[in-house]
Amino acid sequence: MTLTERRRLTEVARGAAPADLYVRGGTLLNVYTGELYPANVATRGERIAYVGLRDDMVGARTTTVEAAGRVLVPGYIDPHVHPAHIITPSALAHHVLPLGTTTLVADTLQFWELGGLRAFTQVANTLARSPVKFYWMIRVHAQSRTTDEARRFQRRDLARALAHPWSVAAGEVTRWPEVQAGAPDLLARLHLASSRGQRVEGHTAGASAERIAALAAGGLTSDHEPITAREVLDRARQGIAVMLRESSLRPDLGGLLDALKEAPGLAARAMLTADGSMPAFIRDHGFVDHLLRTALARGVPPVDAYRMVTLNPATYFHKDGQLGGIAPGRYADICVLTDLSQPRPETVVARGRVAARDGRALISVPEPSWSRVFTTPAARLTARWRARPEDFRLPERTPLPVIRLVSAVITRLEERAPAPGDLHAALVDRAGRWVAPALLAGFADRLDGLAATVSTDFNILVIGRSRESMARAVNRLLDLRGGVVVVDGADVACELPLPLGGIMTRLSLGDAAAREDALHATLRERGYAFHDPFFTLLFLSADFLPAVRLSPRGVWDVKAGRVLLPRRRRA
Ligand SMILES: [Fe+2]
Repeated sequence: MTLTERRRLTEVARGAAPADLYVRGGTLLNVYTGELYPANVATRGERIAYVGLRDDMVGARTTTVEAAGRVLVPGYIDPHVHPAHIITPSALAHHVLPLGTTTLVADTLQFWELGGLRAFTQVANTLARSPVKFYWMIRVHAQSRTTDEARRFQRRDLARALAHPWSVAAGEVTRWPEVQAGAPDLLARLHLASSRGQRVEGHTAGASAERIAALAAGGLTSDHEPITAREVLDRARQGIAVMLRESSLRPDLGGLLDALKEAPGLAARAMLTADGSMPAFIRDHGFVDHLLRTALARGVPPVDAYRMVTLNPATYFHKDGQLGGIAPGRYADICVLTDLSQPRPETVVARGRVAARDGRALISVPEPSWSRVFTTPAARLTARWRARPEDFRLPERTPLPVIRLVSAVITRLEERAPAPGDLHAALVDRAGRWVAPALLAGFADRLDGLAATVSTDFNILVIGRSRESMARAVNRLLDLRGGVVVVDGADVACELPLPLGGIMTRLSLGDAAAREDALHATLRERGYAFHDPFFTLLFLSADFLPAVRLSPRGVWDVKAGRVLLPRRRRA
């Protein structure tokens, strides 16, 4: 905020200048004191200037929002968002704004991996004007180990990204065993954020209670991975701020909230997050409003529940002077509710504008110029090459390592001869220079061929029982410039084009959700038995999950940290 803006806020607050917007007659939820009382709210520009009973700042040009019989609560904040899952961050913001969410703290992985610092800066600069505010957590390492990671994640670039005015944290840090081991390079990357007074977002899935001290000492300040109330307490007791998660992959919130029964003081610090929820899940359930409904249904006192999605995340990110409460100086982000028990708002004010009413957005969200964000042949998938069936051939030896899926994302290693029902799988470089073949069991027995550019290492994932169909799927995928393609024999059975970097469509959340449904149904018909195929594809290469992964180096044993079946050059 500029000094001039500050001065103007004081003028409106004194009644010496007219407000831009005046919300009249509502009952205010004061998240600072926990009180509910009648109050009007006056804004100037993007900020709140006055909260109280006077109306001498209402002028001829002041827009009035009538809120008699309504409750005013601060706009909701999701502190941990992956904003590029099939849809663009702008499409996500456009959908969640009418649901009351006015602030997202978002991940940079996709933009960074496909375009580095320049791509992140482009996206962040465009979205700095969005009515839904985008703050950023800067990824400091890749999701999947490759030989050229040091070049892609240079500390100098990370320091510049952290200096962006909308950056608030480093993370998420999935390599927690390295933090616990005190690995100097990783600790130095986290220090880039902590030395600026910024936060470090952890990912400590599976870390036992005794390891948490070293993780907190190493610099992690939050964690959104607990899947039991016990794990919530283990982390909270060591000073780690816990984000209780309800996502399409892990809908755990109900059980996690039991931690509040054992330790009610946690309500002053806990946050709620939808993490990387997929479009269909958000369409069906909602966003932060869904988290609130779940918490209220679980018996969390309303003031605590609303604080967990407003003041608590604002305070955690050192932004409570800007966000998280309805008070002078803060962004004018206000949800007008019919009742505290109904978190889905009637009207949403965002950055001082009436942004949504009755579930419909009234203003647009700026869209980054994706052709300027994704500029390389790899990001645009413009390299000229074609896949061939022999690319997916396996070495003739037994036993072979087999990746067995035991849930949507968790795998088990089997070392044995190939058996009926095993599928071929491969990770192929976007430019076609190398291929990492594998055997995969438990995905979808009757799948001829699938190719996808949704994977956390951003290469092409290919799966199927027919090498011809697999090659056909890859070649169709290259024609589409990315997405997901399912092939039966030689025919395309289902496709989801993702031409923006191979990871996103320009569709709205609702339309993308319908395509997601179609893909899920296609895979279910072919034997896919888990609940989230997108995450299965995304995480097959993610070497922070147990037990064996299809990484860019080849089939990777996570615990042993070694390659079981190496990648090879494509002839
Ligand atoms: Fe996450």
